[in-house]
Amino acid sequence: MHSAPEPARDQAEALVAAFDPARLPDAFYADPYPTYAALRSLAPLHRCPDGSYFLTRYADLDAVYRDRARFSADKKAVFGPKFGEGTPLYAHHTTSLVFSDPPYHTRVRRQIVGALSPGAIRAMMPGLAALVGRLCDAAALRGRFDLVEDFAAAIPVEVIGNLLGVPHDERGALRGWSLAILGALDPAPTAAALERGHQSVSEFLEFTRALVADRRRDLRGEDDLLSRLIRDETGGEPLSEHELLHNCIFLLNAGHETTTNLIANGLHLLLSRPEARRRLVAEPRLIDRAVEECLRYESPNQLGNRMVVEPVEIGGRRFEPGTYLTLCIGAANRDPAEFADAERFDVGREPNRHLAFAAGGHACAGMSVARLEGQLAIAEFLERLPRARLLDGAVRNRRARFRGFATIPVAVE
Ligand code: HEM
Repeated sequence: MHSAPEPARDQAEALVAAFDPARLPDAFYADPYPTYAALRSLAPLHRCPDGSYFLTRYADLDAVYRDRARFSADKKAVFGPKFGEGTPLYAHHTTSLVFSDPPYHTRVRRQIVGALSPGAIRAMMPGLAALVGRLCDAAALRGRFDLVEDFAAAIPVEVIGNLLGVPHDERGALRGWSLAILGALDPAPTAAALERGHQSVSEFLEFTRALVADRRRDLRGEDDLLSRLIRDETGGEPLSEHELLHNCIFLLNAGHETTTNLIANGLHLLLSRPEARRRLVAEPRLIDRAVEECLRYESPNQLGNRMVVEPVEIGGRRFEPGTYLTLCIGAANRDPAEFADAERFDVGREPNRHLAFAAGGHACAGMSVARLEGQLAIAEFLERLPRARLLDGAVRNRRARFRGFATIPVAVE
C-alpha cells in the first residue's frame, strides 16, 4: 500500500524554514504530509512568523486538548482583529460553543449533547440508508458523476437538515453558507472570502430566525434536535435567542463540510488503493475500522487552536499566557510515536486512537452521527457500485483547515 516517502534531511530543513501557515504554497494543499513529517521531526513546536506556535506531535496535542485549565478555546482575542468586532463573522464564531470556555461552553454543550441522543441518531438510520441507496442508483444511471457534489455532499446536508427539521425545499442554500462561514476560519482568508463569510452569516441568521419562530409556534409532538433545544430539557439556564440561533448555525456547519470530506476523502483513498478496497469488500465487517482509518489518514478537520492562559510546559518548552497555538491534527494522526507504520493506510488498523474528533471537553459532539454517515455511505457505495473507478481531474479544495476535494470525477460504466 502507498506510503508517503520521508523527505530527505535537507529537503525537510527547507520545508521547515519556509513554513508559514499564513502563506502556504500550492504543493502544500496538494500534499501537506511531507511538510508535517518535517515539522514533527525537526520542529515539533514550530514558531511561526506571527509569533504563534504550530504543534505537530500526537502526545503534545493530546495533552493540550485534555487540559482546559491552561488552554482556552475562546477566540475573541484572535477573531477581533481577524473579522472586526461587531461584524457578522465575529458574532457568529464567538457565540458558537466550539470557540468558548466554561461556564458558557458547559451550558451550551449540555443542551446539544442532550438533544443529540442515541435515540435521535438511531431514528435517522432508515432515512439515511434510503438516501444513500438513491444516490448510488442515480450515479449508476448517469455513468459518470462527481463523487463530491453528486454523492458525498448530498448526505450530510440531509442528515443535519433532518436533525434540525429544516424543510426539504429550503435546504438549497445551506451548503454554500456553511462553506463560506467555515472558509473564513482558514489561516489567511482573502478579502473576498471574508466578505462572503459575513454575508453568509447574515443570510443564515435570517433563515434560522424564521425556522425557530416557525417551530416555536408548534412545539408539541416535534422531537427533532431544534425543538428539543428550544424546549430546553436540561433544567439549566436556557439559551438566549442570540445563543440559540448562532449555535444552530454552528451545528448545521459542523456537520456539513467535515462529513462531506470524510466520505469523499475516504472513497478517494479506497478507489485509488485497489488492495485496500478489495480487502474491505471481502471483509465488510471491517467498515468501522476502515472509517476510523480514513479519519486518521486524511483528517477532515486538520487544524485546531488553543490560547495559553497559564504558564505551562509542552514537550519540554515553557509557554507564557497569551501564546496562540495551532494544533495540527493532520500531523498528529501520522505520528510514528503513536501509530505503527503511520504513513501506511491500513483498513484493519487496530488500535487507532486518532485525534480526528479532537479530545477532552470539546471533543466532537456529533462524532456518532459522523461515524454512522461515513460507515453507511462508504459501505453502500463499494457494494452497490463495484465498477466505480476514478477518472483524471480530481481537484483539492485548497483549504488548510478543512481538507477535502472540490471535485472527484468517477465513472461506473
Ligand atoms: C467527520 C466529521 C466530523 C469531524 C472530523 C469533526 C471534527 C470535530 C473537531 C476536531 C471538533 C473539536 C474542535 C475543537 O475543539 O477545536 C469538533 C467539535 C464539534 N463538532 Fe464535529 N466533526 C465532524 C462531524 C460533526 C457532526 C456531524 C456534528 C453534528 C451533528 C458535529 C458537531 C460538533 C460540535 C457541536 C462540536 C463542538 C463541541 C464542543 O465545542 O464542545 N461534528 N468536531
